[in-house]
Amino acid sequence: MDRQAFYVTTPIYYVNDRPHIGHAYTTILADVLARYHRLLGGPTRFLTGTDEHGQKVQQAATREGLTPKEQADRTVVRFQELWKTLEITNDDFIRTTEPRHTSVVKKILQDLYTRGEIYRADYDGWYCVPCERFFTEKDIEGQSCPDCHRPVERIQEANYFFRMSRHQQWLIQYIQEHPAFIQPEARRNETLGFLRRPLTDLCISRPKRRLNWGIELPFDPDYVCYVWFDALVNYISAVGYLADDAAFARWWPASLQLIGKDILTTHTVYWPTMLHAMGLPLPETVFAHGWWLVGENKMSKTDGNVVNPMEMAERYGVDAFRYFLMAEMVLGQDAGFTEEAFVRRYNTDLANDLGNVLSRVLHLIGASCGGKLPAAGALGPEEIRLRDTTLAAAETMRGAIAGMRLDLGLAAVGGVLREANRYIDGRKPWALAKAGGDMAALGTVLYTAAETLRIVSALLFPVMPGKMAELRAALGMAHIAPDMAGLKEWGRLTPGVTVGAVQALFPRIRSAAAAPELQAKTAPVAAAAPVLKKDATPLPEGVAPIEYADFMKVQLRTARILTAEKVPAADKLLRLTVDIGGATRQIVAGISQHYAPETLIGKTVVVVVNLKPAKIRGLESQGMLLAATSGGTMRIVTVDGDLPPGAVVK
Ligand code: ME8
Ligand code: MG
Repeated sequence: MDRQAFYVTTPIYYVNDRPHIGHAYTTILADVLARYHRLLGGPTRFLTGTDEHGQKVQQAATREGLTPKEQADRTVVRFQELWKTLEITNDDFIRTTEPRHTSVVKKILQDLYTRGEIYRADYDGWYCVPCERFFTEKDIEGQSCPDCHRPVERIQEANYFFRMSRHQQWLIQYIQEHPAFIQPEARRNETLGFLRRPLTDLCISRPKRRLNWGIELPFDPDYVCYVWFDALVNYISAVGYLADDAAFARWWPASLQLIGKDILTTHTVYWPTMLHAMGLPLPETVFAHGWWLVGENKMSKTDGNVVNPMEMAERYGVDAFRYFLMAEMVLGQDAGFTEEAFVRRYNTDLANDLGNVLSRVLHLIGASCGGKLPAAGALGPEEIRLRDTTLAAAETMRGAIAGMRLDLGLAAVGGVLREANRYIDGRKPWALAKAGGDMAALGTVLYTAAETLRIVSALLFPVMPGKMAELRAALGMAHIAPDMAGLKEWGRLTPGVTVGAVQALFPRIRSAAAAPELQAKTAPVAAAAPVLKKDATPLPEGVAPIEYADFMKVQLRTARILTAEKVPAADKLLRLTVDIGGATRQIVAGISQHYAPETLIGKTVVVVVNLKPAKIRGLESQGMLLAATSGGTMRIVTVDGDLPPGAVVK
């Protein structure tokens, strides 16, 4: 592959239901990265598509009274329309029912079968229908799936298996030697942890009498191919594997395969072993981002708590929606989606910081310079400071793209805009513009601010292509490409160009729903220590009053639950790891009978952080989780709304 070239992929989404914000997120992220790479000037290819075979799609079709293909044809349009609305610039869209894909899957299956990488065997074990996964006796918990905790079925049948186990040692070594392969680090460790147990061979067939919606095995017409073995191949079938050697050599291996952390194992265990068996190189990086949570749960079709991206884009505009998703999520971590957080960020970053600089510049050039961009005189210290901050933000963004920290790149741009507003406040161009003012100084201020906007608009272009094009047109720079190369130089705007008027790019949102949140942010938090008057308040029976200072000895913090698992042979205990704001703690909590471990992940809870560590069943517990009990019910204490881990509770 041409090392300059950048090939980025998203998962191909199931066509069992309409897309939600989770799907929109991965696709927008890929789009933003593809756009940045195009601006950097290298050949770029961006692939997305749909996963159309398998049980989930067949079941959805049955529910709707359609054939699976009809179901796919109807749903694929929803994805394609959404991508159009969201200004997604994918170069290709692959559907796994297309012949260009199915023919390649068949060739691969035949080749692997011929070479003994796929074999037939009798299978007797457990199967989780919703997850479409096989489990051994050891894997299952009681009669339920270790992943989704739904009941598993006993299955006895002949099937075909991919010799995945054969590649285990190679894969471990590969991951160890290629730290960039699985990103971020926590996910790499998760896969290495998974690989500590022996890998079983992967069942890659489904007998047609159980499931017939799939690609028929070329060597046995009674079976179809397991949906994941078919789906993963899309990344190579779409760029010409076994069909167009020149295209394939150009694009494979992919530079970046974006996924959500829900599909880590398939992409960092199944996929690399499949590629190795085919004799193909692995993608440079598989990057697993975190989840968008609604309240405290993963947004998912299965749970029905989805936010419709079309509605958000219609209500607030595509660009603002794209911006929010990119700025709000730290890549790799989970993020909560609330409309309040959206409105807050929109008003602060876009309506206020960006909107203000633009409207001040346009207004003054229009009113005092005849609508023509003035020239700058010599730069003084304030101009130099703003210029240097702006050029540094361009560098930060470049590093942020390479290092998958878009949030940091965007935060640096936000810093530039706030600095630009401070600069304008300090230089008071409206005073310079008054009769008897200083027109030369006014020119310098307006040119400097406009030049800042040129660079800012290029940096934000991949995220907000529509609005940034409008902004650049208004500033008379529609003819200058927002390329990254132009970001290192100051002073590219030509004085004298006509500057237009622009309506507010991001009109402030006044939303009733957002107001309480906004107030809560600015209201002073805890007031002075309350004075407890003796006997002033009746206390519940058996409760003695304590001094405020005693209460303050207990240090409570918000904490985000990162992992949760049952403690073996202890029915009440869960072992949790929590983020208490910059540090991770292990807590053993007696809540197993009230919470399934996976429902806890991502929750923001309240933890006593200064409790001396204790050993519980041989495990160190470094703190305590607050929970309320009544009768037989126990509920953990959570916080009402968005707060980062580590916030003080009192
Ligand atoms: O798994 N937060 O398809 P899928 C963030 N067809 N991202 C989310 C999300 C959330 N709450 N929910 C979904 C499949 N996503 C397979 C993939 S690839 C060869 C086959 C995003 O429709 C995220 O990228 O369930 C996740 O990995 C993907 O959608 C799963 O989409
Ligand atoms: Mg899914």
